[in-house]
Amino acid sequence: MKSAASLSIRDATDADEPWLIVASREVGGPMVVSQGTAYQLRDYPSLIADSEAVPIGFATFRIEGAQAELLALAATEQWQGTGSALLAAVETKVEQAGCQRLMLCTTNDNTDALRFYQRRGYHLKALNAGAFAEVQRIKGMTGQIVGQHQIVIRDELVLEKPLRA
Ligand SMILES: CC(C)(COP(=O)(O)OP(=O)(O)OC[C@H]1O[C@@H](n2cnc3c(N)ncnc32)[C@H](O)[C@@H]1OP(=O)(O)O)[C@@H](O)C(=O)NCCC(=O)NCCS
Repeated sequence: MKSAASLSIRDATDADEPWLIVASREVGGPMVVSQGTAYQLRDYPSLIADSEAVPIGFATFRIEGAQAELLALAATEQWQGTGSALLAAVETKVEQAGCQRLMLCTTNDNTDALRFYQRRGYHLKALNAGAFAEVQRIKGMTGQIVGQHQIVIRDELVLEKPLRA
C-alpha cells in the first residue's frame, strides 16, 4: 500500500484531459452509461491521485440535488490504496456540497469492485438485469463482451452509501 506521503489527491485540470482519456480505458472509455443515460466524463469534475507527481488514478463524479453519483473510479495499479483514497476524497467533496448519498453503478462481472465498495459502506440498491444490452446499443458495441474474471457482462448493479450531510 502507498504511504500517505507518496499519494496525494487533487482536482483535475484541463491539462489532465489527455491522461484521463487514456486512463478511462479502465472503465470502458470516456463515455460512461449509467441506468440508461450516457455521460461524457470530460463534462464532470474529476479528482486525480498522484504519486510523486505522476497520476496513478482518477475518480469522476456528478452532483444532482442531494445525490451524487460516482461515474468512474480507476487505479493504474490495483490494490495499493489509490482507489480507497480517491473514494474517500469524493465522499468528502460531495458531502461538503450537501449531498446525502453517493451512488454508483457497476457490472455483474466486476466482483472486485463489489467487494471494494461493500467493504466501504456501500449497499446494493438495485439490480438492472440485462441492462448491459442497452449500454452496448448506446456505445454501438455488438456481440458478447467478456469482462473481468472471464464473466460475460450482462447486468448493472446499483450501489449507494448514505453520507453524513
Ligand atoms: C476497483 C478499484 C477502483 C479499487 O481501487 P484500488 O486502488 O485497487 O483499491 P485499494 O488498493 O484502495 O483497496 C484494495 C482492496 O482490495 C483488496 N485486495 C487486495 N488484493 C486484492 C485482489 N487481488 N483481489 C481483490 N481484492 C484485493 C484489499 O485488501 C483492499 O480491500 P480491503 O481494504 O477492503 O481489505 C481498482 O481496482 C480499479 O481500478 N479497478 C478497475 C476499474 C474498475 O473496475 N473501477 C470500478 C468501476 S465501478
